[in-house]
Amino acid sequence: MNQIKLQFDGHSLITPKQIADEISVEKADNFDSQLASGKGEVALLLELARQQFDRNDNPTAIIDRITLSLHDLRGRLHQSVWLELVPLIQNHPVTAYFLEDPVTRWSWDKPRGYSGDASLLDLIYRHECVSDMIAAASERGKALFEYTSTAPSSQANWDRRDILARFVDEVAAEKGPETEVLSIAAGHLREVECSEAAKSGGLKRYVALDQDPVSIGTITRDYAKMGVEAIDGSVRQILAKRIEPGQFDLVYASGLYDYLVDKVAIKLTQRALDMLKPGGTFLFANYSYPIVVDGYIETFMNWQLLLRSEADMWNIINACKDDGHDYETSVFFGKNRNIVYGVMKRKD
Ligand SMILES: C[S@@+](CC[C@H](N)C(=O)[O-])C[C@H]1O[C@@H](n2cnc3c(N)ncnc32)[C@H](O)[C@@H]1O
Repeated sequence: MNQIKLQFDGHSLITPKQIADEISVEKADNFDSQLASGKGEVALLLELARQQFDRNDNPTAIIDRITLSLHDLRGRLHQSVWLELVPLIQNHPVTAYFLEDPVTRWSWDKPRGYSGDASLLDLIYRHECVSDMIAAASERGKALFEYTSTAPSSQANWDRRDILARFVDEVAAEKGPETEVLSIAAGHLREVECSEAAKSGGLKRYVALDQDPVSIGTITRDYAKMGVEAIDGSVRQILAKRIEPGQFDLVYASGLYDYLVDKVAIKLTQRALDMLKPGGTFLFANYSYPIVVDGYIETFMNWQLLLRSEADMWNIINACKDDGHDYETSVFFGKNRNIVYGVMKRKD
């Protein structure tokens, strides 16, 4: 595989190591006893799953039980204990079975060097560009893929793609052919395929910024013909104003705040608001609680996310709204409440 080594900007915590280095967790008072019982539960759970896989039992039933049990265990244990169990789970031989699923495999391997890259989303979307990878999976892998790519968090991704496209279309309907849109951390910008305004040439500018040159190349290959302008750039460069893409009617960031601590999230929101034209809208999205697949993705997919509640979203909005402009603000959930959205629309 053609690998370009990425230099991370340090502002988004997009690798398990970055999260572990940044987020400190106090040890539980009864750490040793919780750990001992947690280890026992995990050993039983994983060994049973391994035997079931060995016997060629139904993979959907196995992954469903594991997912629900890990979610339950993660919720019951102190975070310090759960974090101690994660590597034990990852090192269990049953992992090899789950890695037959292309989604789990991609997330585990991290071919781009970080978690949650745009190709992972392409797998979840079953985008045509990854159909070979899906077709090459084993029968067991295909059954597991059916489960992971339709899990509630994956459905929330499809819904998020529709919501982003809807915002683009609504802003375009309001502002007309002069509409300018910026996506920060655009990934592969798949929402353009769902936006009527983008597809029909109804926008003046559609700018997509991402730190990953492979994503930038993919956007250029797939959507330059629709007028999309892809910029290779990071949150750090945006914050330092080393990149100043212009003023926009809609600025949005999706699949990014899940990697930002509050301090950076607030700074980025302030900067995004600076880039709004009068009457412009800023939209940001974040995975929220509870996510039933949290235990599975943190272990077998080796992917950590910073989840935010509705109140956490309001904290960001409230920290940014008194900047001299007047905003209409709201927070709403997507279809299955796995993703929460914050909106700030400039009234002046
Ligand atoms: C999951 S994708 C999101 C794609 C798209 N916005 C969506 O919601 O479907 C996450 C993207 O965030 C980008 N990203 C993460 N940290 C970044 C940073 N500090 N600066 C710029 N892009 C970043 C990654 O390169 C990746 O393409």
